[in-house]
Amino acid sequence: MTDTRQERPTFDEWDEINFPRPQENEFDRVVERAISRRGFLGGVLAFGSGAAVMGAGILNSVPARAAQDSRFAFKPIPISTDNTVHVPEGYRWQRLVSWGDPLFSGVAELDHATGGSPADAEKIFGENTDGMEMFSIGGKQVIAVNHEYTNNDINLPEATDGIPRDAQDVLKLQNLQGVAVFEISETDGNWSVVKDSPFNRRITHNTPMRIAGPAAGHDLMKTEADPTGTESLGTFNNCGSGRTPWGTYLTCEENFNGYFGATGDTQLEGLTAEGYKRYGIAAEGWGYDYHKWDERFDTSKNPHEPHRAGWIVEIDPTDAASTPVKRTALGRIKHENAAATLAPDGRVVVYMGDDERGEFIYKFVSRDIYVPGGDTSTLLDEGQLYVARFDDDMTGKWIALTPEATGMSAAEIAIFTRTAGSRVNATTMDRPEWVAVNPLACEAYCALTNNSRRGVRANAGGDWTPVGGPNPREANEYGQIVRWRPADDDHASDTFEWDLYVMAGNPTVHEGPYAGSENVNEGNLFNSPDGMAIDSTGLIWIQTDGDDSNEGEFAGQGNNQMLAGDPVTGRIERFLTGPNGSEVTGLCWSADRRTMFVGIQHPAAPFPDGEGKLPRSSIIAIKREDNAPVG
Ligand code: FEO
Ligand code: CA
Ligand code: CA
Repeated sequence: MTDTRQERPTFDEWDEINFPRPQENEFDRVVERAISRRGFLGGVLAFGSGAAVMGAGILNSVPARAAQDSRFAFKPIPISTDNTVHVPEGYRWQRLVSWGDPLFSGVAELDHATGGSPADAEKIFGENTDGMEMFSIGGKQVIAVNHEYTNNDINLPEATDGIPRDAQDVLKLQNLQGVAVFEISETDGNWSVVKDSPFNRRITHNTPMRIAGPAAGHDLMKTEADPTGTESLGTFNNCGSGRTPWGTYLTCEENFNGYFGATGDTQLEGLTAEGYKRYGIAAEGWGYDYHKWDERFDTSKNPHEPHRAGWIVEIDPTDAASTPVKRTALGRIKHENAAATLAPDGRVVVYMGDDERGEFIYKFVSRDIYVPGGDTSTLLDEGQLYVARFDDDMTGKWIALTPEATGMSAAEIAIFTRTAGSRVNATTMDRPEWVAVNPLACEAYCALTNNSRRGVRANAGGDWTPVGGPNPREANEYGQIVRWRPADDDHASDTFEWDLYVMAGNPTVHEGPYAGSENVNEGNLFNSPDGMAIDSTGLIWIQTDGDDSNEGEFAGQGNNQMLAGDPVTGRIERFLTGPNGSEVTGLCWSADRRTMFVGIQHPAAPFPDGEGKLPRSSIIAIKREDNAPVG
């Protein structure tokens, strides 16, 4: 996420402030090393050995403009810098729903002067749409979607600089975030929300949750309000998404630390003190100011409350009365998304990225197998969590986070997962965002969005972040996508081979590694890959959340966008551009694949309503004019 409009620092800028980059970075030396690294990558980038398999790697990828295959059913579009959405010729888009739209009757339409009431905020489509999944339930189409964070200056237009004035302002912010589940329907090619559908619900920062798995009931999870350590309130900073084979929604808690602050001294020791530092929980918070109006978020009064955030939460979209479950076996990190798949023997495998500079990529493998129609209630509670090590020889290993390997108890591994990863020397990555699993080949992809300070500083746990392996550039403003193929075509196996699917860059500005890999060209420039999904035909959809200044390093890259990639040839083409200032994030399809739904988060100008209105994060629906499947 980025928020380019606010004068307050963005999350990335906070990081810059806290960990300033040294002025001297020996740029020439770094480039030289990266070029030689690239030579290494180029030589062995494909999996296996021998010319027969080289087609899988970047080295053999076809420059996009030269390739004339029919893999892409659209004519690529140019960059944009304006305040609306663009899609290819022969396609059209419409707004499905925007922040403030009622999910229930009897709720007021958005008042652009006040930003709506605190009470209505839990009955409307929330702010900052992000990860989403579509569920077909008894012939109905039901979307579950995240509302990641708030834009306080927009959501509280009457408050000075968006600073909450009282507990009601805080309640409004809390109600605008979390998750929405709602039914949609199509009439004459146009989609709309079905108000009052029995599936419709909002889950907010105050919705009761059940805590399950190894951390449930541990002392570190107990608070005065919940002495059992098994019942918490709210899900936080819901970023990317996932879905289970049994039809539930996985929402992923990312920058949860920002909601906590302190009005007095917070008493900390041992792993808890280390955890506060590692996860960035600080007295001043990030401007939500919850702690000043809601004691639950005041760590000087409730020091264990932050341990109850940072999880993956399972939600049953078929039952609006069901209690969401925090699955602590999947670890507590700044979760981006959860890419679930099945091993050949039926065990459930969930890949997860931890989105912060120098943090890790994880995998959970269930103990039990998934049996269609069987009991799935504890599948995500019993199993093994692993962390990834990527070696320079293009192989890698999943290291089990066990008490023996980490010196921590199972509950401590769950609660302080980052520390556990450090103790087994996992590979520090360039900000792991979404992971996507290819349904047509045994491989997975992770977007490493960017990292301007690789090699310059350690992560918050003190682990060094050397330049190398799948993180080959120091001043990595552009990002890359790493791909791995598990041994034995088994996502549960302990080892894998990896390569880079793409290194974003800018060949109009740079030569060498900052020009990007060979499948980047003047026609498909982009930076900061983030959201990712692979459709049923095997096309990789790549969404960006980067610098849209269109200047300097980013000249010719335009607004944030969505591209489609061919996993086999490496070819990448631009499909959609978003409004200026926005991030394109969240992607799902209607059951018939004739409509694609895409999230437009935090537009800068008043998209989609126009001048004089507030900017509104929105989900748009995209169709082909001939109503053929999209892609
Ligand atoms: Fe919420 Fe890492 O994006
Ligand atoms: Ca991002
Ligand atoms: Ca993201």
